[in-house]
Amino acid sequence: MFSFDCLRPFSNLAQLLSTHPSDTVRRLPPTPATTIVALPGKAQLVFVRDADLMRTLARDRALDRGPGVNLLKSVFGPDTLFLMPHGKLHERRAGEFNRHFGQRHIEALTPEIAAHANRAAATTRAALSAAPDAPVDMRDIILRYLFDVGARAIAGVDVDLCDQVDVFRRGVEALHREATSMLKTALAANLPGTAPYMAKEARRAADEFHEAGRRMLVAGADRHDIGDSLALSILKRHKIDPAQVNEATRLPKPVLVDAAMSLAASLFTTGNQIERTLHHFYEHPKELQQLRRLIREDFPDGVGEVTQLRNCPTLRQLLPATLTESPVGIVSRDVLDATSFTDGNGTSHPLRKGDAVIFDIEDMQARHVPDIDLALAEDGRPTLELFNQRHDDIVQTFFSGPNRCPGRYLAVADSQLFLIEMLSKFDGQSIDRNRPLERGIVNRLGGSPLMRLTPVRTERAISPP
Ligand code: HEM
Repeated sequence: MFSFDCLRPFSNLAQLLSTHPSDTVRRLPPTPATTIVALPGKAQLVFVRDADLMRTLARDRALDRGPGVNLLKSVFGPDTLFLMPHGKLHERRAGEFNRHFGQRHIEALTPEIAAHANRAAATTRAALSAAPDAPVDMRDIILRYLFDVGARAIAGVDVDLCDQVDVFRRGVEALHREATSMLKTALAANLPGTAPYMAKEARRAADEFHEAGRRMLVAGADRHDIGDSLALSILKRHKIDPAQVNEATRLPKPVLVDAAMSLAASLFTTGNQIERTLHHFYEHPKELQQLRRLIREDFPDGVGEVTQLRNCPTLRQLLPATLTESPVGIVSRDVLDATSFTDGNGTSHPLRKGDAVIFDIEDMQARHVPDIDLALAEDGRPTLELFNQRHDDIVQTFFSGPNRCPGRYLAVADSQLFLIEMLSKFDGQSIDRNRPLERGIVNRLGGSPLMRLTPVRTERAISPP
């Protein structure tokens, strides 16, 4: 007798191709922690919301970045670290990144990040004094700050990349328009030759953004005898003598991609996280008032003079809220070789070549908010410690294993210092009353980023700019 069950894989496929997996996971029931969806041809899609299982599978070499990232690779470049498969080259590059962006380095950079955050608030206040009724473009304010801090962290010295903010924004808009579709992703995965014909505008903007990479490399090379930096490591790895690099040097494309995409990784993610967290507090005035009271206690002189982030009631309220607004909802992996996994009930499941696994890190992190709160309860401990390997069981936002985000310490320092400044100094209201969350390559707020800001007057301004 004919059973409609045999059609289920096709209806599953149709549904999956019309929705981004970041959206699909949100429609799954809360249990079980592992969901297996059948696709045509015996392939399966496995959704994982079990943090222990994620940690195990993140280290399983049978799972890797495979055909599923063909489309993004065609846009950003084949050797982009955040799209690179495992292997010796990945190991070397991830190690390099981790070395330059480790906890110790970001602690040392914290006073400069704090000064940049303070300056961003001062510039905003000056703009408001000149035109109090004009809305401000919040995305622009956030990105200018992140460009300054990211370029400083990569080059080891300040680099002015203001004119690259528009190039970056154009690229992101094109990416969301041209490369979020699952149909295109599946087409590029199965017929790699089609990838170059898609996402043309995003590719053009990514190429234009190489200029940001070039400037950071030249600035880094200029101080080759003073200090180490990621820019110098990139040049040396590509066998370029930094002492010979100057404004007139023509650097090969892979070198430019390497530097430019290191910066882009910090902008795509932290930018949306900050924008979403600001929006959250401006939409929840009671939480904002409570946060401001804590900031007045913990940062009476603002963040301008902060030398290290240490646990305090302000961070205990702000940091879990920021992690909840993460821009990366899922991490996906292609199964490249047969393997298996055991679910929370002790049942073993085979994974075959061609399957895909989606880790729902947004859900896993949300379940651990009480543990994060507890970990932050010990006042005075260095806050960035929370993001080292010892806390892998409660921090999922940055993934796990060999691909765990090497920019996590910077992301946390960047976001917390900026948010403390802006939320304590300005009241804000979006011009667009309805800003829905758009889930895709990154999760971001839809609608207009324009906001009406007013300096906080009822309470003492925290550090007069
Ligand atoms: C809120 C901010 C951030 C979040 C939520 C985030 C999250 C993540 C996640 C989940 C991954 C793993 C992705 C995968 O394996 O497919 C990742 C990888 C990566 N992130 Fe971040 N990230 C953030 C900020 C940053 C920053 C500031 C930088 C750079 C300074 C950065 C650089 C990278 C790089 C290079 C990788 C690839 C690592 C590898 O494959 O070895 N991220 N990030």
